[in-house]
Amino acid sequence: MSERPKLFEFEGIMLTHIFTDNWEKVKNFKARPDDILIATYPKAGTTWLSEIVDQLYFGEMEGRKPNIPIYERVPFLEICVEGLEKGTDAVESLPTSPRLIKTHLPVQLVPKSFWEQNCRVLYVARNPKDNLVSFYHFDRMNKVQPEAGPWDKYIDKFSSGQLVFGSWYDHVQGWWNKRETYPRMLYLFYEDMNEDLSREISRISSFLGLSPSEKEKERVTGKTKFETMKSNSMADYSTFDMMDQSISPFMRKGTVGDWKNHFTVAQNAEFDEEYKRRMEKSTLAFRMEI
Ligand code: A3P
Repeated sequence: MSERPKLFEFEGIMLTHIFTDNWEKVKNFKARPDDILIATYPKAGTTWLSEIVDQLYFGEMEGRKPNIPIYERVPFLEICVEGLEKGTDAVESLPTSPRLIKTHLPVQLVPKSFWEQNCRVLYVARNPKDNLVSFYHFDRMNKVQPEAGPWDKYIDKFSSGQLVFGSWYDHVQGWWNKRETYPRMLYLFYEDMNEDLSREISRISSFLGLSPSEKEKERVTGKTKFETMKSNSMADYSTFDMMDQSISPFMRKGTVGDWKNHFTVAQNAEFDEEYKRRMEKSTLAFRMEI
């Protein structure tokens, strides 16, 4: 197995070469006014939201090829890795519009064209403890991510922003603050989606200016439930050979509160202190359980 990529600082955040090798093209990416950007910190529910939006637009489209993996239906803008089409090229070759585009970039690094074109942006955030747990298992199984290393050290790495795409705190707050100056954004929470998927699908639809029938909404809800996506090879990354799903499946648990099975009492108390300190000045609040 080839070596895992190294983390380094780039434009003020931690990244690996996979996300910087195509940087000029990413930075100068030309968005179209109807492009839809799906932005998240890694492991916050990107694939879930991508599947929902894709289903709303194209789930029932006549003539669409039936078997297209989610990472091709919703290309990952900044990715540039051997064995996969560059994200920018994959977006350019999308046959449908609106183009659905995924990014994990912190708000300040998003190509400016998206703002200039006034594109719709959907952001989903997840409580930090579950986000961290999910990221930990992902780094264990994804061969193009830096090694996770031991669990207790991983908590420190998360808190100090030493993970790919940098600090969770900066990411969620940066995007939260952007809402104040950029109204064409819907800020969603993984916990809300988990609590009531059908309600959140309605919110997403109205933000996108879509009016699906009740029957259609039911179809999308059914299609994007955890159990359905877990058994859908076009959604569960089983066709993506950079991941070793025998170590940990991509569709791992899909719950709120799995952090309780990972954090010790002491780790949790320390994390809570840090969270309080870092979130003190923000109006952004997370539910650690539902
Ligand atoms: P867990 O590791 O906690 O199970 P991303 O797509 O941003 O990489 O996020 C992956 C996380 O979202 C994983 O979390 C995965 O199980 C969860 N997820 C994906 N689809 C989901 C769904 N339909 N319902 C609930 N969680 C889902």
